Amino acid sequence: MIVGVIGSGSIGPDLAYGFVSALASDSGSRVLLHDINPEALETGLARIQGYVKKGVDRGKLSPKAAAAISGKLTTTLDLNDLAECDYVLEAATEDLAIKKIILNNLEKVVRPDCLIGFATSGLPRTMIAAETQHPDRCFVNHPFFPAWRAMPMEVVLSDNTEYSEKMMETLKRLGKVPVETADVACFAADDIF
Ligand SMILES: NC(=O)c1ccc[n+]([C@@H]2O[C@H](COP(=O)([O-])OP(=O)(O)OC[C@H]3O[C@@H](n4cnc5c(N)ncnc54)[C@H](O)[C@@H]3O)[C@@H](O)[C@H]2O)c1
Repeated sequence: MIVGVIGSGSIGPDLAYGFVSALASDSGSRVLLHDINPEALETGLARIQGYVKKGVDRGKLSPKAAAAISGKLTTTLDLNDLAECDYVLEAATEDLAIKKIILNNLEKVVRPDCLIGFATSGLPRTMIAAETQHPDRCFVNHPFFPAWRAMPMEVVLSDNTEYSEKMMETLKRLGKVPVETADVACFAADDIF
């Protein structure tokens, strides 16, 4: 599976590290972390390398697993590098206008059946998906903190059963426990908090 994460800020690198860890023994799989800011990519990569080192130092990661994780992760400033992705998680912004630009550019690059997730903290799926060419393959994927380790992930599904099942299976393969939630602003968990 080829996975893309857009946004190397507070949460993007953690999500990328969680995904690449889950795919470490999966031959052919890889994860790309994209940002428009080179410094953000450098900082994000350094954080991921720190997690890997800590894992090895504490005996939780074998050197072989650490090498597999590092070998499967690429950072890129070029959105076009996400062309082969099966799933892309956008974790760049809560600003709908900027999100629209990112999604429009992304949809020019990826296949029509590439699943797209939004790590939004509170924007409804219908509002974001309405800005896309293929709304049925777009999902809210609301992560929890710390995103590399927290297994639950709230998911707002679309009306398309095939894509929705594929979304749930994809998240499970990426080490998450997807929890279906209603498409209301801020979703269930934030509502409770
Ligand atoms: N931080 C959290 O704990 C948390 C938890 C749940 C959900 N989220 C959601 O995740 C998203 C990102 O949050 P964050 O806290 O990581 O934000 P952030 O501001 O820390 O990082 C955003 C990153 O996206 C990059 N970016 C901006 N425009 C871009 C573009 N056009 N293309 C590529 N990259 C671009 C920025 O350079 C920056 O590095 C938000 O929607 C937020 O609500 C965050």
